[in-house]
Amino acid sequence: MSVSAALEKKIRDRTARVGVVGLGYVGLPLAVEFAGAGFSVTGIDLKEEKTARVNAGDSYVPDVPSDVLQPLVRAGKLRATTDFSVIAELDTINICVPTPLRKTKDPDMSYIVSSCQEIARHLHAGMLLILESTTYPGTTDELLLPMFEAAGLRAGSDFFLCFSPERVDPGNPTYQTVNIPKVVGGVTEACTEMGALFYRQALEHVVPVSSTQVAEMVKLLENTFRMINIGMVNEMAMMCDRMGINVWEVIEAAATKPFGFMPFYPGPGLGGHCIPIDPFYLSWKTRQAGIEARFIELAGYINGQMPHYVVDKIQNALNDRGKALKGAHVHVLGIAYKKDIDDVRESPALDVIHLLTQRWARVSYSDPYVPELHSDSLTMRSEPLEEIAPKADCLVIITNHSVFDYTRLLEQSQLIVDTRNAMKGFVSDKIVRL
Ligand SMILES: NC(=O)c1ccc[n+]([C@@H]2O[C@H](COP(=O)([O-])OP(=O)(O)OC[C@H]3O[C@@H](n4cnc5c(N)ncnc54)[C@H](O)[C@@H]3O)[C@@H](O)[C@H]2O)c1
Repeated sequence: MSVSAALEKKIRDRTARVGVVGLGYVGLPLAVEFAGAGFSVTGIDLKEEKTARVNAGDSYVPDVPSDVLQPLVRAGKLRATTDFSVIAELDTINICVPTPLRKTKDPDMSYIVSSCQEIARHLHAGMLLILESTTYPGTTDELLLPMFEAAGLRAGSDFFLCFSPERVDPGNPTYQTVNIPKVVGGVTEACTEMGALFYRQALEHVVPVSSTQVAEMVKLLENTFRMINIGMVNEMAMMCDRMGINVWEVIEAAATKPFGFMPFYPGPGLGGHCIPIDPFYLSWKTRQAGIEARFIELAGYINGQMPHYVVDKIQNALNDRGKALKGAHVHVLGIAYKKDIDDVRESPALDVIHLLTQRWARVSYSDPYVPELHSDSLTMRSEPLEEIAPKADCLVIITNHSVFDYTRLLEQSQLIVDTRNAMKGFVSDKIVRL
């Protein structure tokens, strides 16, 4: 039996031993999905505390409940390790490691490179490798392929290599790993077919495309689309504010158009591991081809101004009430980058807190999902909202978590600056909207 036919058989009868490198927000849900579909799955992560928690059936990813993880671990379907030598026993690997930006806004490929170096050391014939980390177009063919072929094995015949963008939306109750269509493109046609066959075993809908570059670009189009539209609507919010128009009402009414319009909402700035970062992977790459990604730069600039705009709004609202920002107590509601999740990566709340502190405000926060904050120079602890709300000079809603009791907040507080339209429907002089 050929290498390809043997792997195909193992994938079809679910005896293929599946590996997931990087057990974070993307990797752990994927590992659980394949274990749930009957595969034996091994997760590999550098952090021992994560592998230990997985092996104890104790989830640290909110989209993966421990009572879903535990039975899979107990049944021997899912285990985790820090030891890359297990790759010698695996048939497939999904690579889900971080792809942040350097301070210069250039791609930081170090996590991909170091994990792929480890994989290359243990690569053997008959393996399927799929990169899922968001990256610039060309990564799989230009960076990964030479690393994996260095020992003499050939992609498309000896092993199979694909890119498949991860589209997971943490905290989304409707769309999760299993029912988000999965785009996959391989370095050869045989690679694409193998990748698509693999995903079809566990996911509902697979979308094969003609190359790894197309698959890489799909993700960048999706996230650049969001980033630019958010930039546009943030600018619209500033324009509406200047003209005394409620931008939220404008968007709601525009969204009644049944075609040709998709609502985006303004806010205190971009957050998370994707939207503020991924478009800069594209602009970095296109700059090398002599094209400036001007929409990305412009939206990046406008979105980057939003935390400053919010702090100006707080200052003006306090001034209007005869108070100065200097020395005022500003309490931040929600510091996660979006509602109902615990992730503070790139959260605009961090910028807002820094800027307020720079202007000598006293700052505290409440976030039931983030009991403690340790980030760069910030170390803070979530305060009990009931106690703080009546005392603070201003509450600023940065993250509109569903658990906050907004009616009670309005009763208790002196001033609320609402950057998310969380106070929709409430009429009060105490509320200042973005
Ligand atoms: N979080 C999201 O919502 C989301 C959505 C779509 C795409 N993505 C993309 O998916 C990728 C992973 O994101 P994430 O949010 O899961 O990141 P994460 O930080 O939650 O998880 C990454 C994991 O990889 C581990 N790791 C780092 N280097 C490693 C190495 N060399 N070997 C093994 N493990 C290593 C880390 O310890 C961590 O547990 C990124 O490229 C991101 O842009 C993320």
